[in-house]
Amino acid sequence: MAGTRFATVWDPDEGWMTATWFQGPAPDFIAASRPASRAGGSILHFLGGQTADVVGERAVAQTKIGAPQNDRHRNQRRDGRVISTEERNRATGHGTAEAVAMKAIVQDSYGEAEDVMRLAEIDRPEIGEGEVLLRVRAAGVDRGVWHLMTGLPYLLRVIGYCGVRAPRTRVRGSDVAGRVEAVGADVTGLRPGDEVYGVADGAFAEYAVATADKLAPKPRNLSAEQAAAVPISGLTALQAVRDGGQVQPGQKVLIIGASGGVGTFAVQVARAYGAHVTGVCSRAKVDLVRSLGADNVIDYAVGDIADDGQRYDVVLDIGGHRSLTHLRRALTATGRLVIIGSETGGRWLGGFDRSLRAPLLSRFVRQTLTMLANSENASDLMVLTDLIESDEVTPAIDRIYPLSETPAAIRYLIDGHAQGKVVVTV
Ligand SMILES: NC(=O)c1ccc[n+]([C@@H]2O[C@H](COP(=O)([O-])OP(=O)(O)OC[C@H]3O[C@@H](n4cnc5c(N)ncnc54)[C@H](OP(=O)(O)O)[C@@H]3O)[C@@H](O)[C@H]2O)c1
Repeated sequence: MAGTRFATVWDPDEGWMTATWFQGPAPDFIAASRPASRAGGSILHFLGGQTADVVGERAVAQTKIGAPQNDRHRNQRRDGRVISTEERNRATGHGTAEAVAMKAIVQDSYGEAEDVMRLAEIDRPEIGEGEVLLRVRAAGVDRGVWHLMTGLPYLLRVIGYCGVRAPRTRVRGSDVAGRVEAVGADVTGLRPGDEVYGVADGAFAEYAVATADKLAPKPRNLSAEQAAAVPISGLTALQAVRDGGQVQPGQKVLIIGASGGVGTFAVQVARAYGAHVTGVCSRAKVDLVRSLGADNVIDYAVGDIADDGQRYDVVLDIGGHRSLTHLRRALTATGRLVIIGSETGGRWLGGFDRSLRAPLLSRFVRQTLTMLANSENASDLMVLTDLIESDEVTPAIDRIYPLSETPAAIRYLIDGHAQGKVVVTV
């Protein structure tokens, strides 16, 4: 392309890489040669000493020079050594005002929560165009937090979803409910003081940054803790029922993993769409799933999904990692399977290969076999708000932990104890 040239840049997480630099009198953007981190981007150190922050998401990232940096990278010296915020402040004479400090749960390396996460005081994040600074009131805990915290399965590092050797950003947490503190240029429809919920970067902290298109006004009938339980699990459930499953009134829907974060929403959303719902979970959580409105509940320790000859129009697969053959046996001849996910413990693919095989096999059979990649967007949050405010959906919250006990909250979820959602209050 005329007017462009390739520049070799240094990414502290990735090593040397190539980027296309769109030349101009004062270059505003470069296009990075790899996907940006979902969790908030990474700094590219130019040979000339300029820095840039990836602000895009997935695909080809647009990189804006001079955009805010995350703490790890702001504190990373040219020689690669990471210094403390205090050390940087002494060197630069900046950042000492109490007003810009905040408490956050930080991590600098991959591992389990209790090994790598700690409460620390770090700089409050800064916002750029289209972004919103939130005073966090509560943050939801979900499986995605664990994946980004451990960098597992490795596939996530390979596809650029997270850093190769270490996390790109220090603060985890995506589900958020809080008050708008400040808005960046180009943000319309949100003002300081608004109570919102949605998806942010670094919600396990007193302040977090979100893009405005991932936030919506908090449902009027929910507390901040309840609202923070909704976004990712609720959006996933809605999109699985409405888009993947295309659930119609009167259809029979099987929800495998009905007692978890996604499943507890899926049961309620499927009921709201008029379905006859059968949930699958462990014995200890049967009562919970029934209380959410499931017509039948199968305890997976004693019953199989296809045991009783029952066939379902739609199967939502959220836990247990059954084979495609097994899942298809529970479907009607033209039924729809939606694979949302499951945890296999596999360090390389984490069972993701099954999700990829489903749409391939789907070409050769009458059933429709799909996988879901959820979309975090404000308009679907508004759909959830309607369902919540009309009392058709209510978040099922098991435990609420204080910010300082975030590692224990993650452990509780990962060990399989949670009945529904786990939330951190800030
Ligand atoms: N595709 C996407 O966009 C997307 C979005 C969000 C999440 N996910 C993935 O979806 C999965 C579930 O997420 P989540 O937040 O709901 O997790 P979660 O809260 O930990 O729930 C896991 C569920 O799986 C159930 N389960 C475990 N073993 C089972 C078995 N053998 N048979 C049937 N059910 C079983 C659990 O039931 P019991 O607790 O009763 O044993 C629980 O209901 C994760 O792998 C997550 O990464 C994908």
